[in-house]
Amino acid sequence: MKKLFAANWKLHKTPAETRDFLRAFLPQTKTVAAEIVIFPPASSWEAAAQSFAGSANCFWGGQNVWSQAQGAFTGENSAQVLKELGGRYALVGHSERRSVFHEEPTWMSDKVAFVQGLGLTPILCIGETLAERDAGQTDAVNARQLEEGLAKAKTSQPLVVAYEPVWAIGTGRVAQPSQVAEAHAFIRRNLQEKGFEGTPILYGGSVKPENAGELLGLPDVNGFLVGGASLDPESFLKICRA
Ligand code: 13P
Repeated sequence: MKKLFAANWKLHKTPAETRDFLRAFLPQTKTVAAEIVIFPPASSWEAAAQSFAGSANCFWGGQNVWSQAQGAFTGENSAQVLKELGGRYALVGHSERRSVFHEEPTWMSDKVAFVQGLGLTPILCIGETLAERDAGQTDAVNARQLEEGLAKAKTSQPLVVAYEPVWAIGTGRVAQPSQVAEAHAFIRRNLQEKGFEGTPILYGGSVKPENAGELLGLPDVNGFLVGGASLDPESFLKICRA
C-alpha cells in the first residue's frame, strides 16, 4: 500500500505563510514515493489551492467540514467550498474537535458520509484518552469510534482512518511501537469485519523525524498524521522520506 503522510497544521499559518511553506516544500516532494496531504486552516485554503496547482502526489484538505452543503451553520466550514477549490481530503472527528469544540459522536457518521458523497476522502480520527487507556478501554474506545464514524460510510468509496491516542498529541509523548502495533492491528481487524478492505491506517501523536522510521516499519502503519513537526518544511520532508 502506498504510504500517506498528512500534515495537520491546526490553527497555524496565514495565507502568506502557507504560500511560503509550499514554495519551499512542494518542489522537494517530486522524489517522495508517497502521497502527501496538507491540512491548512480554512482561512488559508485558497492560498493552498493556488500553490498546489499541477502537483502529482501532493494534495490538500480541510481540518473540519460540516455535514450539510449549506444553511444556518454560523462559523462552519463548507465541504462544497473545499471541493470547489480543489481540496481532496477532510479530517473528521479530530480529538481537538471532539474535546475542545465538543463535537458529538453522533455527528461523525454524517460527516464521513457527506464527504464521501462529494467524492472527497474522509480521514476519520479516533483514539483513546490516557484515562481510557489506563482503564483498559483502548480497544473498546477505538471500536466505538469506528462504529460511530463508519455507520453510514460506503465501503466502495475512499476512506482513511487515523489512530491518534489523545495522550500522545502535542505532548512529546509518542506511543511505544508495541502500543501502536497493537492498536493498528485491532483497527485493521475491525475495519475488515465492517467490509473496509485496504483502508490506510495512519498513526498520529508526536511523530518526529527521529521516531518516524521505526513507527513506519510497523505492520499496518500506512503513514502519519503529523501536527507540530509538519509546520517546518524540512522537518516534514524528513518524515515523508522516513
Ligand atoms: P502532534 O504531532 O503535534 O502531536 O499532533 C498530532 C495531531 O494531532 C495530528 O492531527
